[in-house]
Amino acid sequence: MADGHKVRTVRDVMSSPPVTALSSEVLADASNRMKSHGVGSVVVIDGDRPIGILTERDLVSFVASGGDSSVTKVSEWMTEDPELVGPGEPVVDAFARLSQGRYRHIPVVEDDGLIGVVSIRDLMRIASIEPMSYPGHMEAPKGLAGVIVAETEVGDVRGQEGFYHYRQYSATELTERRGLEDAWYFMFEGELPDRIQLDAFIDELRPLRQVSPLVAELLPALARAGERFVPLDALRTAVSLVAADADFRPSLDIDRPALRMNALQVCSVIPTLIAALWRLRHGHEPLAPHPELRYAANYLYMITGEVPDPDIARAIEQYQMTTIDHGFNASTFTARVITSTGADLGAAAVGAIGALSGPLHGGAPSRALDMLDAIGNPDNTAAWVRNAVESGDRIMGFGHRVYKTEDPRSRLLRDVAQRLGGDMAEFATLVEQTVVDTLAELKPGRDLYANVEFYAGVVMDRCGLPRELFTPTFASSRAIGWCANILEQAADNRIIRPSAKYVGPPPPQPVPELD
Ligand SMILES: CC(C)(COP(=O)(O)OP(=O)(O)OC[C@H]1O[C@@H](n2cnc3c(N)ncnc32)[C@H](O)[C@@H]1OP(=O)(O)O)[C@@H](O)C(=O)NCCC(=O)NCCS
Repeated sequence: MADGHKVRTVRDVMSSPPVTALSSEVLADASNRMKSHGVGSVVVIDGDRPIGILTERDLVSFVASGGDSSVTKVSEWMTEDPELVGPGEPVVDAFARLSQGRYRHIPVVEDDGLIGVVSIRDLMRIASIEPMSYPGHMEAPKGLAGVIVAETEVGDVRGQEGFYHYRQYSATELTERRGLEDAWYFMFEGELPDRIQLDAFIDELRPLRQVSPLVAELLPALARAGERFVPLDALRTAVSLVAADADFRPSLDIDRPALRMNALQVCSVIPTLIAALWRLRHGHEPLAPHPELRYAANYLYMITGEVPDPDIARAIEQYQMTTIDHGFNASTFTARVITSTGADLGAAAVGAIGALSGPLHGGAPSRALDMLDAIGNPDNTAAWVRNAVESGDRIMGFGHRVYKTEDPRSRLLRDVAQRLGGDMAEFATLVEQTVVDTLAELKPGRDLYANVEFYAGVVMDRCGLPRELFTPTFASSRAIGWCANILEQAADNRIIRPSAKYVGPPPPQPVPELD
């Protein structure tokens, strides 16, 4: 392999073992051997070291000279000290180097010993179909890490500074000062709403939370599917159903107002779908959205059946606000790739949910909570954490690919958890400090801090959300970020179509017949 591309070398095309002759042999014997092996040359050896080459062309010249091949020695007509090639040399290089020479057959030598012969014709055949390079193509690192693939006004993450923003505002400051619908309006429209705009927006969203009769009829079947209930999978299927039922059209064929309406519908209905599917799976009737409640309070209401305490609703709202967008993450990128094909918004949202369902992306805030359960009580904390790190375990809810300082979402959610109070929040704060100190001591220089998942689990648990709804709750507000990106992509689109470097067996291989 070179640069990840499988390069064919001389070894792949040489003939081996080579047909050889001794310099003391007569030409007739060498010529007969050449004929019987069907080759165009013999390599003249001394031990296993090539000292010359005798080719068909040499024999033709010899015949023309009128000599007697039964008495003339190979040494008299061979070419001494022929050009040699190593078996590891790429075919393309060997051809470029040797094609200028006079010789059509080149001995292949490894550690001074002859191991084969390669013909210029073979080298040329392979060299001409071997891709010399990918002209004009740049090679991106695995996972596209650090590669800028688009321009966006939606937002960005500054990992070194522990900062992320929605458009021009700090995401955490926006979360502290405004409500979710404000942020949603802002992400779609590019400016924060005034009171009149906000009220009008909330009125616009209210009917879009409803599921249609057909979707309502089919949800019980989706909720029953599978031995395990995976809420995100059920949601993915339900969103697809909503888009089909509402006749979403390809983004290529509709204008921004129509695409915006699709986006509002998907983002509005997702909390209703999550709650309905979860209730159905657990044997409860779904609840219609509460017309007086805003996004987060209504979400909790549709799950629990109770109008939540405003502090609880605000805590969930703040969690959801912190997760609306976070740079060009895998699900956002997926949504943009699908939109770039001109597909409808439902397809892009379903694809994004699929990307988020992977453990490397959507994660599992519940795992951080499982760890708190495993530690059990404050007295166990130091020993448990030390033992886990010393055994090489990853501490769930700590460390981040982008943030090398405190994750701003974790900082905000820690405040939310502490504001709500309770034993769990206090315990979590102690565990966080212990983990950070222990990792700093045992894994110095790695800059490991709590990430969003650690306190997200604590907050959602404190607000009465079941653990299996943690990731769907994340998906619900992230849908707003996906849709802001979809609108942006559709407004200035070019199909996203990168290239890949082929590294499989060199083509064209002969296609075997079926025996
Ligand atoms: C989030 C995460 C995947 C980022 O990974 P990453 O940027 O690729 O970091 P690396 O895997 O290269 O880790 C760098 C070093 O820090 C250590 N490290 C990273 N996260 C750690 C954690 N949570 N606990 C203990 N050690 C950790 C690694 O062991 C590694 O140490 P080494 O240099 O001795 O090998 C990683 O921190 C992790 O696995 N965290 C736990 C799972 C989690 O909380 N996921 C939710 C993310 S929102």
